[in-house]
Amino acid sequence: MKIRSLIALAIIAIAGFFTLDYIRLTPGWRMFGLIGTARILLTGTEDDFLAKPTWETQANADMPASTEGIFPDTPYVFYEGWHLFQINDWENHLQHLKGKPDVHGLEVGAYEGMSAIWALQNILTHPASTITCIDIFDNQKIEERFDRNVAATGIPEKIVKVKGPSEHMLCSLEPNTYDYIYIDGCHLPKWALSDAVMSWETLKPGGLMIFDDYKHIDARPKTSRFTRIDFIDDYLWNKRGQYRDSPRPAIDAFLKIYAPYLDVVYKKYQVVVRKK
Ligand SMILES: C[S@@+](CC[C@H](N)C(=O)[O-])C[C@H]1O[C@@H](n2cnc3c(N)ncnc32)[C@H](O)[C@@H]1O
Repeated sequence: MKIRSLIALAIIAIAGFFTLDYIRLTPGWRMFGLIGTARILLTGTEDDFLAKPTWETQANADMPASTEGIFPDTPYVFYEGWHLFQINDWENHLQHLKGKPDVHGLEVGAYEGMSAIWALQNILTHPASTITCIDIFDNQKIEERFDRNVAATGIPEKIVKVKGPSEHMLCSLEPNTYDYIYIDGCHLPKWALSDAVMSWETLKPGGLMIFDDYKHIDARPKTSRFTRIDFIDDYLWNKRGQYRDSPRPAIDAFLKIYAPYLDVVYKKYQVVVRKK
């Protein structure tokens, strides 16, 4: 009887944990009530989001402040803050490149330019360092925001904009050119895989390739506690099997096939590999 009660209690506790966490992750519930408060206390995610963006204040003072987006008192117009969650990790991974001359970054997928501009202002700080941004820019408003944000840096000449589908544009790049490459374009596995394979030859030996959204599952915030507990994450991943817009199968395939040619440096929400 005692053992049965214990088992029943354990089942109720586990079911309760999953139910509460499911509610916690449901849009609209995230910020409210006990669950929302507990979430912020436990994970600090909302605070992190608001506290991190300090780098944007270095913008060119001549640009008028924007009244739009998530940094309204700066010249930048960003409506998405995806990169803010990666800043601490990027500072760690890319620290060795900071301030050095002739360091070159490549981004596949630039959107409004946040990750590129962050890199420019924090890593590619030497005047002779650059970033190349490939994007299909099939949305005119987003392209305009990218252009405006590039101008707001005050150093637009350090950003090489390449407009077009990455599967075509990557062919035009020189081999062994880039110190790091960020794969954050189309997330469908087929395209994520071709972006990785096609850009690999342009990466210098010893250079880093960073993949975004390895653990992306629809409607699950990337700051979820699940993403920090790997075996639960894997369980949910397998159970839900949501590969629709996730590059994960592509990244897994790439890591497997290119294993002899790379070292895995980091594998969490983002994946970082070093070319041997
Ligand atoms: C997630 S956003 C990039 C976000 C950006 N790296 C950041 O962190 O601020 C993905 C971008 O990939 C671009 N994209 C999607 N498919 C593409 C393709 N086939 N070729 C080039 N860019 C593509 C989209 O236009 C979009 O701007």
